[in-house]
Amino acid sequence: MAGTAQRHTDAEGTDAGVDGGVGLTALLVAAARAIETHRHDSLAQDVYAEHFVRAAPACADWPVRLQRVPDGDGNPLWGRFARYFGLRTRVLDDFVLRSVRTSVRQVVLLGAGLDTRAFRLDWPSDCVVFEIDRAGVLAFKHQVLTGLPATPKVKRVPVPVDLRADWVAALTTAGFDPAAPSVWLAEGLLFYLPSPVETYLIDTVDRLTTEGSALAFEAKLEKDLLEYRDSAIYTATREQIGIDLLHLFDKGPRPDSAGDLTAKGWSTSVHTPFDFTHQYGRGPLPEPNDALEGNRWVFAHKPRP
Ligand SMILES: C[S@@+](CC[C@H](N)C(=O)[O-])C[C@H]1O[C@@H](n2cnc3c(N)ncnc32)[C@H](O)[C@@H]1O
Repeated sequence: MAGTAQRHTDAEGTDAGVDGGVGLTALLVAAARAIETHRHDSLAQDVYAEHFVRAAPACADWPVRLQRVPDGDGNPLWGRFARYFGLRTRVLDDFVLRSVRTSVRQVVLLGAGLDTRAFRLDWPSDCVVFEIDRAGVLAFKHQVLTGLPATPKVKRVPVPVDLRADWVAALTTAGFDPAAPSVWLAEGLLFYLPSPVETYLIDTVDRLTTEGSALAFEAKLEKDLLEYRDSAIYTATREQIGIDLLHLFDKGPRPDSAGDLTAKGWSTSVHTPFDFTHQYGRGPLPEPNDALEGNRWVFAHKPRP
């Protein structure tokens, strides 16, 4: 599986699609979800995921089933890393579904990529799911989904906007109501954004949310990312599909967003992915020189008075 992905860097503020740059990472996660879907012990089912992979020239030779990977689970990219994404999908599915069992009816997916929760999950009928990503990514998603028998199980509102631009205006124009409770996901997003953009995003979620709202996000601990350059996961992702994640991650110091939310009165809990491997009975476990070691999944709730 030689890397065939085009490796052009997406320009700041453009509507780059899924054929390169950070947009291509949306396809990486989709391929991982396709593989997870076909596992006999799958943690999450996403029947749409493999269609995205098949539709994009950039990943024509990527696998959508583990059986197609010669070393199977021993492959650091399509084995362990894909399972990581499968676990993350499931944990955040459960988080968002728990939230909408209360009074929350608005869901905002920040950096939604090829997330198909609007099509996969069983939502209360009066929910609305806002999907924020760059225009090129959402256009590709639309093109693939309209070619399938795919019907959203909820009101779904794509919001094509760059999170480095004025996304609040785009979201509220699309119908988001800051006066009603909401649940937000930033899954696999924040480490691609410059630190001030992340800080603005967290401050803005706080500003746009009422009591009873919730937010889950993935962060990486403040540590020299390059320390993991030779880890099995980063090396395999670079060598097998031509995605250099370390090149795409923002290199600046990271803000303490969990701490910032706590300071604003949110109740936050911070977990390693491995906590959930134990809870769900499958998923990645720690290993030496582990690129996943610094990953944290943060769950935050804005308490009711
Ligand atoms: C690793 S993918 C994750 C996608 C999705 N959350 C998932 O887990 O399947 C990262 C996503 O963040 C989006 N993204 C990165 N920077 C962005 C920005 N500045 N504005 C909007 N979306 C952005 C990318 O286009 C991509 O779809």
